[in-house]
Amino acid sequence: MSLIPIILIPDPVLRRVAEPVGEVTDGVRQLLDDMAETMYDAPGIGLAAPQINISERLIVMDCGPDDAPELHKMINPEIVGRSDELSILEEGCLSIPDQTAEVERPATVDVRYTDINGAEQMLHCEGLLAACVQHEIDHLNGVLFIDHISRLKRDMIVRRVLKSLRQSGGRSAG
Ligand code: NI
Repeated sequence: MSLIPIILIPDPVLRRVAEPVGEVTDGVRQLLDDMAETMYDAPGIGLAAPQINISERLIVMDCGPDDAPELHKMINPEIVGRSDELSILEEGCLSIPDQTAEVERPATVDVRYTDINGAEQMLHCEGLLAACVQHEIDHLNGVLFIDHISRLKRDMIVRRVLKSLRQSGGRSAG
């Protein structure tokens, strides 16, 4: 297992639509393990492959409590159902360090994905997990949480991140 550097805005890989994964190989499983390790180390509750500069449809998430981890590894995840009910949660992103904003999304979603054994699975997501899985699948489509907020707030967040990156001489850790 190994940690992989996390890509930050404004890297264009974060705006690319990621490619579907074909066969679930040992390489894919290894990559998901490395993504999980990188996510826990950050620490974060979700990570999508474009955030480690790999434009493929892979995500990992763990929204469980510290004493009861619930790691999800998803290949080619797709939202196939959304509630009409919306909910607002405060979101952040490892690619947009130290910034958060309230984001409104469907309160529950149903996700279809391929698991590490190549089998198709369905998962009903609510609460924090619902917000997280929508945030991570957005990453696979080149969309960031700041795209869901007002232009004014978005511009402010981007300016702050670019300024802090300049001050730290380029990359921040994590
Ligand atoms: Ni993110």
